[in-house]
This record gives sequence, structure tokens and C-alpha cells, in this order.
Amino acid sequence: MAEETNQLFTREELKSRNKRTDAVLIIHNEVYDVTQFLDEHPGGEEVLLEKAGQDASEPFEDVSHSSDARSLMKKYKIGELVEADRKASKAAYAPQWSNDQPQEQGNAWSSWLTPLLLGIAATIIYRYLFA
Ligand code: HEM
Repeated sequence: MAEETNQLFTREELKSRNKRTDAVLIIHNEVYDVTQFLDEHPGGEEVLLEKAGQDASEPFEDVSHSSDARSLMKKYKIGELVEADRKASKAAYAPQWSNDQPQEQGNAWSSWLTPLLLGIAATIIYRYLFA
């Protein structure tokens, strides 16, 4: 409930928060304090520290983080950028479920092709054996 108290930051004031003892990331105009997460990040602390104090939206999306990763990051959110420092979000930053759909469509072909071929094979065998 108290979650809605949103602290606002400028890009300028976040720049210096790039240390192992105080590391923040800007991802899609939201600000994350990842100091406690450095040790736990499956991708390693190096990549996070490299982007600390800066905008990490692109490298974050380049990795195609899982939906687990996306819900995990909520835990580290400390606020958002002030209106003037925000970037328009791109279509590529769409919610994670929209990324899953093309994959399913790509698989749809093979998912009905296999039973179809099995069906044809069974029909041929049946005819030879019992016709
Ligand atoms: C709060 C922000 C972040 C969270 C919560 C997070 C979480 C995770 C998680 C849970 C994984 C395991 C794989 C998965 O579930 O997708 C992962 C992998 C990874 N992450 Fe992050 N991540 C964050 C930010 C970043 C950023 C900013 C970068 C790059 C600059 C990055 C680079 C990577 C890399 C390279 C991997 C390894 C991919 C692999 O080995 O397959 N992460 N991250």
C-alpha cells in the first residue's frame, strides 16, 4: 500500500551512484538500487557495475531477461526519473508476454505437423496389414 510513495530522481544525481557500496540502475525510466543484488545477479556483478549510475534499459533488454527476472527487479525499485529526464519507451520494451507470442506461433507449425505425419503413417500401415 505504501508502495505509491514514488521518489523522483534526476539522471544527474544518479551518476555518482556507481559504486559497489551504492549502485543504482535506470531501466525504462525507473530507478533500481541494486547494491544488495550485485552478489546475487546470475549475470554477474561486473555487468551491473559497468552500467551503475546510468541508463541500462538497452543492455537489460539485450539479454532478454525472463519474466522471473522482471518480477525480481520490483524488489529493488526505489523510484522513478523526474518527468524531464524520461525517455519515450520504445515498442521493443513491450511487456514480456508479448515477446512470448511469436515464439509460440513459430512452433505451431511443427506442433501439428508431427501428429499429422504420424496419422498418415498409421493409416498406411493399417491398410497394408488389414486391407
Ligand atoms: C534489477 C535489474 C536486474 C535484474 C533483477 C536481473 C536479473 C537477472 C536474472 C534473474 C538472470 C537469470 C536469467 C533470467 O532469469 O533471465 C539474469 C541474467 C543476466 N543478466 Fe540480469 N538482471 C538485472 C539487470 C541486468 C543488467 C542491467 C544487465 C546488463 C548490463 C544484465 C545482464 C545479465 C546477463 C549478461 C545475464 C546472464 C544471461 C545468461 O548467462 O544466460 N542484467 N539477470
